[in-house]
Amino acid sequence: MIRRPLVEFAGLGVAVPDRVVTNAEFEKTLDTSDQWIVERTGIRERRVAPPEQSVAMLAQEASRKALAMAGLGPLDIHGIVLATATPDRLLPATACDLQALLGARNAAAFDLSAACPGFLFALTVAEGLVASGQGENFLIVGAEKLNTIADPTDRSTAILFGDAAGAAVIRKSDGGTRGVLSTFIKSDGNLADLLYRPGGGAVDPISNKVVAERSHFIKMAGREVFKSAVLTMSEACDQALQRAGISAAEVDMLIPHQANLRIIEATARHAGMPLEKVMINVDRYGNTSSASIPLAIDQGIAEGRIKPGMTLLLVAFGGGFTWGSAVVKW
Ligand code: UT7
Repeated sequence: MIRRPLVEFAGLGVAVPDRVVTNAEFEKTLDTSDQWIVERTGIRERRVAPPEQSVAMLAQEASRKALAMAGLGPLDIHGIVLATATPDRLLPATACDLQALLGARNAAAFDLSAACPGFLFALTVAEGLVASGQGENFLIVGAEKLNTIADPTDRSTAILFGDAAGAAVIRKSDGGTRGVLSTFIKSDGNLADLLYRPGGGAVDPISNKVVAERSHFIKMAGREVFKSAVLTMSEACDQALQRAGISAAEVDMLIPHQANLRIIEATARHAGMPLEKVMINVDRYGNTSSASIPLAIDQGIAEGRIKPGMTLLLVAFGGGFTWGSAVVKW
């Protein structure tokens, strides 16, 4: 029996910076090649934001589009949950800057730190906020400038990331069958040091030492992260389907986090989804962390591959480790 959704997606919007950085650009500064990057990751290009375009500004552009699609104004929003691994400032939350930019004066605004599945964590939180009566319309956002925390001298990470934002208006369901049929989120903090930024936080505050050691940049044990990504995204697919009470055969489109084409293919294989039913845009945007899922949904809508009434399986994995999934009747 299909669960009645408590919330539904009322609007979606994305924003990407104008500047395209191709793999060829990295060949000029790093010991790498377009061939290696394409073969090992599937990435061909990514977007990079200029210093004057903040995370909050990218989030604002995406949020305005999401509000327009929902037919709502900023004052209709009761809460903003912004997932990011790259807040504009360490205090206050980037969500508060976004609130000010939007003029969403009736909202509570806060950031959520859950790395790449942040958008799915934010969706889960928004569903809970509706359930507890905190309001009816929530803005969930995944917004990142990952190129500000990737070490440009480290070939194993510099080539992976892109900047982008995605936003959705999550609205209390009107009682119909459209909406969020299930969510699943999980973490394993024992594996934190496989993907992390060691310096610059409270443990080792920013200092000449931190800068000299470059420990304020992302460090990643790529191969170990890869293996965990495949395992956890597979588990997450199973969990979301089970909680929604449906089988993979009933899913019209898989929307996986876009970190690496090989991880996407392994996840699709596990879920038994043919690649024509999988959204893939890692080639164009790289890994945009929490923005990755809304970016892929937006592309699916624009290409006519995602249509109202379709059943979508969303799944993501990231630093923490964290992983999550959702089944959504679009
Ligand atoms: O968003 C969620 C979190 N992130 C992820 O899910 C990423 C998961 N990991 C991955 O996608 C892959 O592990 C990477 C793309 C990061 C790396 O691919 P890999 O096939 O696992 O390569 P590797 O780390 O095992 O490295 C293989 C070789 C090494 O050289 P040696 O030791 O064999 O001589 C690396 O130094 O490839 C080398 N290498 C590169 N060579 C050319 C690493 N980066 C590069 C590069 N260009 N950019």
